[in-house]
Amino acid sequence: MEVVIKSDYEEMCRAAAHVVADILNTKPDAVLGLATGSTPLGVYKELVRLHQEEGIDFSQVTTFNLDEYVGLSINDSQSYHHFMHENFFKHVNIPVQNIYIPSGTTRNYQAFCQWYEHRIEECGGIDVQILGIGTDGHIAFNEPTSSLSSRTRLKTLEKQTINDNARFFENRDDVPIYAITMGVGTILEAKQIVLLASGKSKATVVAASVEGPVTSMITASALQMHPSTLFFVDEEAGSELKMREYYDWVQEKKPDSPQA
Ligand code: GLP
Repeated sequence: MEVVIKSDYEEMCRAAAHVVADILNTKPDAVLGLATGSTPLGVYKELVRLHQEEGIDFSQVTTFNLDEYVGLSINDSQSYHHFMHENFFKHVNIPVQNIYIPSGTTRNYQAFCQWYEHRIEECGGIDVQILGIGTDGHIAFNEPTSSLSSRTRLKTLEKQTINDNARFFENRDDVPIYAITMGVGTILEAKQIVLLASGKSKATVVAASVEGPVTSMITASALQMHPSTLFFVDEEAGSELKMREYYDWVQEKKPDSPQA
């Protein structure tokens, strides 16, 4: 795991977006794993800028989103379908048939989840997966005690997650209590993972995920088992990291070439 501490949110998002852009430069038909939540917004903003101002091309890209609320239609303003369309898809040139987001309204969740997993596989797997992190340490909607080898499935949300996400809804009671989410096992199969965390409210779970034991109580800690995870944090989110000096030292002394 490589921990990269950036001075602020904007700088962190720019750096993460450039990881995606570099992958697209070498593999224009890359498969991107995408996340919602407020944290990745800056990454989408920078990718849109790179598309509009620097010509980065998404025409061969395929995307798979991590999760969706159960019960919300694609047109619901709180659905992750809507979020992705508004904040990313409508600004870039990803062919609509290459965009996959879990359905919140399917009649058969089990069959849908199996199909979703199968589709990821058929597309060659995820090249780079963007992740945020919940205040309870979840990735996607893999709440505490989720199996660390879980696959895409229906998940009941924890109260803390419902409270955290209530800010996007008119009333707390409007927050769905179920979601369909890629599993921890699904996420761990991505070739490259880019997690972003911003702000003081994430400091404790960031430190636990990076420096604590691997535990299903903090599903982000499973990323310690992944061979290529970039953990981007801003100063506040990184403020409880014990090995902070070492992470900065690693970045400062980064060899120019992989052979060095
Ligand atoms: C939701 C999403 C997660 C996201 C988390 C944190 O629970 N399912 O993918 O990481 O929110 O969101 P935010 O970035 O707004 O703190």
